[in-house]
Amino acid sequence: MDIQAIRADFPILKREINGNPLIYFDNAATAQKPRQVIEAMTDYYEKHNGNVHRAVHTLSLEATEMYEKSREKTANFINARDSSELIFVRGTTEAINLVAYSWGLANLCKDDEVLVTLMEHHSNIVPWEITSKLKVFTIKYANVNSDGSLDYEDFENKLSNKTKIACLSHVSNVTGIINDVERVSKAVHEKGALMLVDGAQSVPHMPTDVQALDADFLAFSGHKMLGPTGIGGLYGKKELLEKMPPFQGGGEMIKEVAFGKGEGCTVSWNELPWKFEAGTPNMSGAIGLAAAIKYLEGLGMENVLNHEKDLTKYAVERMQNFSKVIIHGCCDFSKKCGIVPFGVKGLSSHDVALFCDNYGIMIRSGYHCAQPFHEQVLKLQSSDRASFYVYNTKEEIDRFADVLQEIEQL
Ligand SMILES: Cc1ncc(COP(=O)(O)O)c(C=O)c1O
Repeated sequence: MDIQAIRADFPILKREINGNPLIYFDNAATAQKPRQVIEAMTDYYEKHNGNVHRAVHTLSLEATEMYEKSREKTANFINARDSSELIFVRGTTEAINLVAYSWGLANLCKDDEVLVTLMEHHSNIVPWEITSKLKVFTIKYANVNSDGSLDYEDFENKLSNKTKIACLSHVSNVTGIINDVERVSKAVHEKGALMLVDGAQSVPHMPTDVQALDADFLAFSGHKMLGPTGIGGLYGKKELLEKMPPFQGGGEMIKEVAFGKGEGCTVSWNELPWKFEAGTPNMSGAIGLAAAIKYLEGLGMENVLNHEKDLTKYAVERMQNFSKVIIHGCCDFSKKCGIVPFGVKGLSSHDVALFCDNYGIMIRSGYHCAQPFHEQVLKLQSSDRASFYVYNTKEEIDRFADVLQEIEQL
């Protein structure tokens, strides 16, 4: 990949922060946007804006066509069988809530079990905790080894005939470890349960094939993959989505709202995917997401992954030279994408992040919405995280290493 050409596409990378060139290493939180995405959204608002699926006028028809083409592009990107299996949502969080409330409340009851893992982001834990109070099912947590890898044996032992759904992140947002979802998915299906994959940290960084993963559901966020905020996807197998009740009610998700003769109001649902898209959807967001996907496809997702692995290996090698810098989790680069979790002895994670910010380097500090992972597995209150993407370079990592050296000498 021609990284300098890529960098030229991202206007924000020209910024200086505290008199230093911006180095953006917080890509696991949200990615920057290339001008192609910004221009696609501006073009939509300047020339085509109208509400979708409603009116017969030209702008509405154009907006509808652009919105539905964006759905096709997004569905193809994850190799869904059909674009009706792709529901546009606000992001990963809303996608998992949709499954927990719609599928979960309709299918789970007392004695049923949901299996999650201790490495999950809060958005793959809390929706299940909330719905478990409504339907009184049990949530089991599979263990994670101290190096941050999934304890596959524990996961498989905790699967039982009572398990109805298992939920796992494809890539951990704390360590960047890539989980063997195909293995897990096979074990889950052998028990007759469903497999939900949290793709928030995988879909932006590697080729994704929902059919090869045999995922029943896959959730992901547009803003982490060069797209805008407020848009993301929920993939679901058609036969499951068809049987699920709507998540929210409102315009567009209905076929009919009719008053019969003295029978009150009867409501019937629209077809997939619109049954799950109540109200005016995020049209410009979907169009921006499609532009981001086009951009990523132009680079090639294998190349994106290799670039990130290369940067991760380089960063870890540089960081290992500092005696006070501790790198958390496994360093087997074949099983990791572009995330390096670390800490500096004697300093809080926020102190380290603020020091880096003084030099224009943006890293994340805290527990990254994964408090159980930090407390139960890593035995830490918090950590720092450098996370890379397509526009990052080894020179930026060198600059970061210089700043770590200064921190170490404090
Ligand atoms: C693994 C994982 N799951 C879920 C989420 C939630 O994503 P969003 O806030 O875009 O809904 C994130 C965000 O960081 C994540 O890293």
